[in-house]
Amino acid sequence: MIHIAPSILNANLMQLPALLPRLEGAGAAVLHLDVMDGHFVPPLTFGPMLAGALRSVTGLFLEAHLMVDRPGDLIEDFVKAGCGRVIVHAEATPHLDRLLGAIRKLGAEAGVAINPGTPLAAIEETLGSLDLVLVMTVNPGWGGQKFIPGCIDKLARLKARLDALGLSPHLEVDGGINLETAGQAVAAGADLLVAGNAVFAKPDPIAAFGELTAAARSAKR
Ligand code: DX5
Ligand code: ZN
Repeated sequence: MIHIAPSILNANLMQLPALLPRLEGAGAAVLHLDVMDGHFVPPLTFGPMLAGALRSVTGLFLEAHLMVDRPGDLIEDFVKAGCGRVIVHAEATPHLDRLLGAIRKLGAEAGVAINPGTPLAAIEETLGSLDLVLVMTVNPGWGGQKFIPGCIDKLARLKARLDALGLSPHLEVDGGINLETAGQAVAAGADLLVAGNAVFAKPDPIAAFGELTAAARSAKR
């Protein structure tokens, strides 16, 4: 089943306790938390305390996308705060396999993200131990950027490789997803589409979420 995962990066945090139950009612399953440390990417966002606060106001599955240096230092805090999935960047650690094992040992799902400039070879050896692969479709750091079309080819090559290996982790895309690009991502194999501005920057985020979900689900695979 194809899902849109709303990202709260550019949302008004004060409005979330009112909006999240409505998003859930509209069929949302996953909430995407963009964690930035001011080092791996220039901006600074939030830490596990906000994840814990969100956990207490929503039943949505929480996934933490760690755009941080030393991601290993934060994994346990995010799992304890209630995140069911932790996604680390391949570029942020020389110990990817160890970190993925640490996430799973804590009882959470393990995901790996790769930047647009990172080749698939960087994650090839870990494919068998992943619950999710996140193919970034913008360079991470900011919401509201333009989708990089070249990433679609990488996504399609990853999908083909996973099929050849008989593996089926979630295939997630993140960055610049809107009514136009959602279909392209689904056609190339994505089943989970992060959307920040296309949901929370719209006058009616719930309606926008519904339209985006419908667009993604009507795309040909
Ligand atoms: C980018 C973040 C994204 C971002 C997506 O660094 O990882 O999750 O919030 O925002 P939009 O959908 O506005 O491109
Ligand atoms: Zn993200």
